[in-house]
Amino acid sequence: MNTNNQATIEPQEGLPVGQILVGDASTKLRSLPAGSVDTVVTSPPYFRLRNYGEPNQIGLEESVDDWVQALRTVMGEVARVLKPQGSVWLNLGDTYSRSVRHGASPKSLVLGPERLLLALEADGWLVRNKVVWSKPNPMPASVRDRLACTWEPIYLLTRSPDYFFDLDAIRVPARSSLNRPTITGTATKYGTGVGRPEWSGPSAGTNSGLEKMKARGLTAHPLGKNPGDVWTMPTAAYRGAHFATFPESLVERPLKATCPQRVCRACGLAWRRASVVRDLGMLAVKGQLRKSCACESRDWQPGVVLDPFMGAGTVGVVAARHDRRWIGIELSDRFAALARNRIATTAAAAQEAA
Ligand SMILES: C[S@@+](CC[C@H](N)C(=O)[O-])C[C@H]1O[C@@H](n2cnc3c(N)ncnc32)[C@H](O)[C@@H]1O
Repeated sequence: MNTNNQATIEPQEGLPVGQILVGDASTKLRSLPAGSVDTVVTSPPYFRLRNYGEPNQIGLEESVDDWVQALRTVMGEVARVLKPQGSVWLNLGDTYSRSVRHGASPKSLVLGPERLLLALEADGWLVRNKVVWSKPNPMPASVRDRLACTWEPIYLLTRSPDYFFDLDAIRVPARSSLNRPTITGTATKYGTGVGRPEWSGPSAGTNSGLEKMKARGLTAHPLGKNPGDVWTMPTAAYRGAHFATFPESLVERPLKATCPQRVCRACGLAWRRASVVRDLGMLAVKGQLRKSCACESRDWQPGVVLDPFMGAGTVGVVAARHDRRWIGIELSDRFAALARNRIATTAAAAQEAA
């Protein structure tokens, strides 16, 4: 988590939290203050797969390079509205070309996600993860000369190497429930158990955290393990008038990891979870949130999540359920109305349950 960016965070006046701005994503993003949003979770229209029936819609460009350019423009504005320690989760899909005009030979994938990600990296985005969303209930396919498509990528992007990421909020139970003591320093399948194995290349990661835990006699982190980058989640059960809706579970993990429960009301900096895994013992608990800025005030408010392609409003629904502030942008008036109803129903149910 970053603690050095307070100076660059701008005031958050005029932030339309709890609203869906109806219009084109790039245009509406320009109306939001710089450095005001903690995280973006979004699924833009894929290249030539849906017709949302709106002028100015993204996705019906003639060539994949034009689609890349349209999303690059949106992401340029996202970079401006994001706090320096913010992040973006981008769910993308690919398309099979039907004409060379689309940017690839007919029957070839156009490689839209790859082209976009190379462009975004060149624009200063750091690509921190490529998550595989594996669908146990994929769309049935009648193809006979290739494999059916059963997953989509979700990219985690940041503007800075230091960013807010609350891993403890999304840990999952470790498979080995017994934290048995292990013998350290012995050969493992990853090497000698001490330092870097001799076969590591110059950019290979280290397992130093794992080794420290082993040295303390633990086989797993007491709060659970990192959920990893393959997420098996069924496609959305929501069957409203919108036909490309996120499953709520796909939004939940990104939201908990990168939309802070509390940010300083004065400077906007995220409160951090105290490191309570002081001693990696069985008594470790999820750390309390503590302010991490020098502001005198201890006033806080929840972090803000933005979806510039709000559709039926799944990001708002999950934000309402988890007490985060949200902002949506959606080109279609009809989808925006659908989303507002859906979010209001969730918020009312959450309030009743509280
Ligand atoms: C894949 S859907 C998003 C679905 C959403 N994640 C959900 O859970 O319902 C993409 C959305 O982008 C909207 N859209 C298309 N072009 C747009 C543009 N230029 N600006 C803003 N929204 C746009 C479409 O109307 C559509 O609702």
